Amino acid sequence: MTETVLEPVREPVLSVRDLSVSFRSDTRTVHAVDGVSYDLAPGEVLAVVGESGCGKSVTSMAVMGLLPPTAHIGGSIRLGGRELVGAHEKEFQKVRGKDIAMIFQEPMTSLNPVLTIGRQIGEVLRRHQGLSRKDARTRAVELLELVGIPAPQRRIDEYPHQLSGGMRQRVMIAIAVACDPSVLIADEPTTALDVTVQAGILEVLQSLRERLGTAIVLVTHDLGVVADAADRVLVMYAGRSVEQAPVHDLFGTARHPYTRGLLGAVLRPGGEGKRRLPEIPGLVPSLDSQPDACTFAPRCSRADDTCTGGRPGFKAIDPKAGADALHRAACWHPYGADAAADTAPAPDTTDTLDQEAGE
Ligand SMILES: Nc1ncnc2c1ncn2[C@@H]1O[C@H](COP(=O)(O)OP(=O)(O)O)[C@@H](O)[C@H]1O
Ligand code: SF4
Ligand SMILES: [Mg+2]
Repeated sequence: MTETVLEPVREPVLSVRDLSVSFRSDTRTVHAVDGVSYDLAPGEVLAVVGESGCGKSVTSMAVMGLLPPTAHIGGSIRLGGRELVGAHEKEFQKVRGKDIAMIFQEPMTSLNPVLTIGRQIGEVLRRHQGLSRKDARTRAVELLELVGIPAPQRRIDEYPHQLSGGMRQRVMIAIAVACDPSVLIADEPTTALDVTVQAGILEVLQSLRERLGTAIVLVTHDLGVVADAADRVLVMYAGRSVEQAPVHDLFGTARHPYTRGLLGAVLRPGGEGKRRLPEIPGLVPSLDSQPDACTFAPRCSRADDTCTGGRPGFKAIDPKAGADALHRAACWHPYGADAAADTAPAPDTTDTLDQEAGE
């Protein structure tokens, strides 16, 4: 799909345009990502949300150049002016860790169990910045401090298994930001962690943005973590962008029926259902085809022949908003701003986000 995406006010550090990713095998083609676009400004936190399987991780892995050879990638990914779609693995090796870094849901799989955490952070510093062993150790202690690990002088000589899940995730963040990348992609960084520990990790991400100016793509299926942590939200459904808005607009006046569904599930009155997967009737469609229709139509109460007869463009909500319109949706019949209050009230996430890290 070719769509018009208007330029943001600030020069983006990362710019994704009309990204498509398909996996082809002898028997089928999976269209995991279909025409996704976003911009990330320096120091901005963009949340990418949507149900499991909607293409969030594949989008992130495409940006990192970490997709398997079976992936066919189209569109454009520009990082600091450098085009990454079609780039050679050698070019990715130059930017990965240095300009852009990623943390994953399960830090244990990314850490080496037989090396101390000091060694693992130090290796990144020595490889990318040419630091001596001694300087790397000093810097590693600073980084552990930056991510809120207590007694870093002692912890630096510990092995991953000696740390709690939350502490391991902090170590992964320290490794990721060791070379001060301009972009950090955090893919479900709190999903494997206790609710009490999640808040601490989100605080670390916030402090990185404030202290280092790191721009962050926060990937999550959990809208509950988005409200306080993100500046802007991109909602994905079945591989496509369906809504994008500044976080307060999204929680206040979501326009897309899918976003409404997600919010309704997160914000059920009485707090029940908070942090649970959304309960929108119906199933996520198969990704075997790219229908020229709205893929949410089978689950949407507002669907009509227009929706099943053509794919809605990802358009500015306010046609008069001008070139920097930030609120967009891909829907033939979006909700109006006034109808928002009954189904999408302002979130109350204090019980989950204000808790002490408790580690
Ligand atoms: N290597 C792969 N080969 C084939 N299909 C894949 C591969 N990786 C992911 N997919 C498919 O792409 C779709 C999107 O996956 P993913 O981006 O991981 O979703 P999520 O939004 O949960 O992160 C899913 O249908 C998944 O099965
Ligand atoms: S385009 Fe139609 S089916 Fe799709 S979300 Fe909008 S109203 Fe629902
Ligand atoms: Mg994922």
